[in-house]
Amino acid sequence: MSKAFYITTAIDYVNGQPHLGHAYEKVITDVIARARRSLGQEVFFLTGLDEHGQKVQQAALADGKTPQAYCDQLAADWLAFAGQLGLSNNDFVRTTQSRHQEVVCAMLNKLHDQGDLYKAEYRGWYSWRQETFLTDKDRQPDGTWDAIYGEVVELVEHNWYFKMSQHQAWLIEYLEANPTFVQPDARRNEVLGFLKSVKLEDLCISRPKARLGWGIPLPFDPDYVNYVWFDALSNYFSVPAALGDPAAVAPLGKYYQSAGVPSPPHLWPADIQVIGKDIVKFHAVYWPIMLKAVGAPLPRQVLVHGWWQKDGAKISKSTGNLVDPVAVINEWGLDAFRFYVVRELAIGPDGNWTDAGFKSRYQAELANGLGNLVNRSLSMLKRYRNGIVPARHDELAPDAAKVVADTQALLAKNELQGALQSIWQLVNRANQYVDQTKPFSLAKDPAQAQRLDEVLYNLAEACRVLAVLLWPFLPGTTTKIYAQLGLPGTPDQFEAAKWGGLNAGNIIGDPAPLFPRKDA
Ligand code: ME8
Ligand code: MG
Repeated sequence: MSKAFYITTAIDYVNGQPHLGHAYEKVITDVIARARRSLGQEVFFLTGLDEHGQKVQQAALADGKTPQAYCDQLAADWLAFAGQLGLSNNDFVRTTQSRHQEVVCAMLNKLHDQGDLYKAEYRGWYSWRQETFLTDKDRQPDGTWDAIYGEVVELVEHNWYFKMSQHQAWLIEYLEANPTFVQPDARRNEVLGFLKSVKLEDLCISRPKARLGWGIPLPFDPDYVNYVWFDALSNYFSVPAALGDPAAVAPLGKYYQSAGVPSPPHLWPADIQVIGKDIVKFHAVYWPIMLKAVGAPLPRQVLVHGWWQKDGAKISKSTGNLVDPVAVINEWGLDAFRFYVVRELAIGPDGNWTDAGFKSRYQAELANGLGNLVNRSLSMLKRYRNGIVPARHDELAPDAAKVVADTQALLAKNELQGALQSIWQLVNRANQYVDQTKPFSLAKDPAQAQRLDEVLYNLAEACRVLAVLLWPFLPGTTTKIYAQLGLPGTPDQFEAAKWGGLNAGNIIGDPAPLFPRKDA
């Protein structure tokens, strides 16, 4: 069995409700996953929740619940959210699941036996109010601590450390030899710059249970739980191992017995790990080092997206500067939301959500662009030809072929925004074709019947090709386009974008607006 294309998102802290940033990351990952499937690859798409650690423990406490009850309740909302976004994920991991915890313990046991872990004293400044260690960098210019920290005391703790510092040299070499390991280039340069200027220290991978109980107990020292980032990063590997993927199970050797599934998928190493810019160090430094120490191959790429703002300011719960993706979806439709976030922002830079920008793209590109094209093309076919597709004609075939080739190349590079721009060249060309050929005038002249047939075929076939190209982005809308064309199923195979797929004599369904205009 060949290896599937394995793609992951970050797993979200379950300490609140999902927002635009979470939605964006999941949508771009879903579009990549669907595009690969459409192009014929087998794909496994994993997303999920990061449920341990201090943030979640504090949120549970504030809510008057046990951490597990709190997580169970919120996990239901996040699972529903994945459905509301139309995600095509193959699995959903929660770090409180035993299948995950067992793999983390196996990794820890192996590292422990290998001598990669040691116990040492840690002495540092600690804020009880914020439940966090502080360093001298956190002091104010005059040397005092900000009032938000309350009383700051010097605390001495024993903890477990992972020998990370010895891994710096090979990781620099690896990043230099594998320029696509971290993408885009700006992020790769940032990681290399960091690794070349800062000396890596060993990583504290435990928290004393007495101070923080909500985590995976260390299998070799029950007074401690695992540091939440070690636990969370491991999810990408624990799911393949739990399913029985040989490439994930083998490195764990005697430390792990997978229950597996009847015919386990071949997933590891991950092909693309999609994350936001704030967690690059964890994914491009800690994570490859953890895997190397465990003896597992490294992921092929960490793909880093930027951060959304709203109206030019940070998205923040405390100031109420939020975009609620579910509210937008309920008002405008799922595909309008998916379209806007992918079209507005390339994977890399930061983005800015404005309600005006959203409405303007909806009106111009979806309602007047794609929606109007499909609606007028099919309405004319219905009116002038009783909905019966005329003989094939290839006037727009060269335009379509170019867009299909460009789109395929852009999808292969995960340039989703570019792919939409390419696809809209065909939307615009076909709308222009209506204006130039004037089928409504042709229909008035019986001598132009042949010409009208040609025009109507070109328009209907352009709509069909667009449905195929757009399926990864707009799965619901493109399925509706197929239904309106009288075609069965979903346009989920890219090879169907080849011109001429619509047969003469095919009877179309009922045209209906795809993106209703919302005039104020
Ligand atoms: O960091 N714009 O979880 P998280 C774009 N549990 N992306 C954003 C964003 C914004 N305004 N805000 C957050 C965690 N994100 C850890 C991850 S992975 C092993 C553990 C992105 O809920 C953020 O960059 O704080 C991250 O990729 C994801 O949402 C989850 O963030
Ligand atoms: Mg965060």
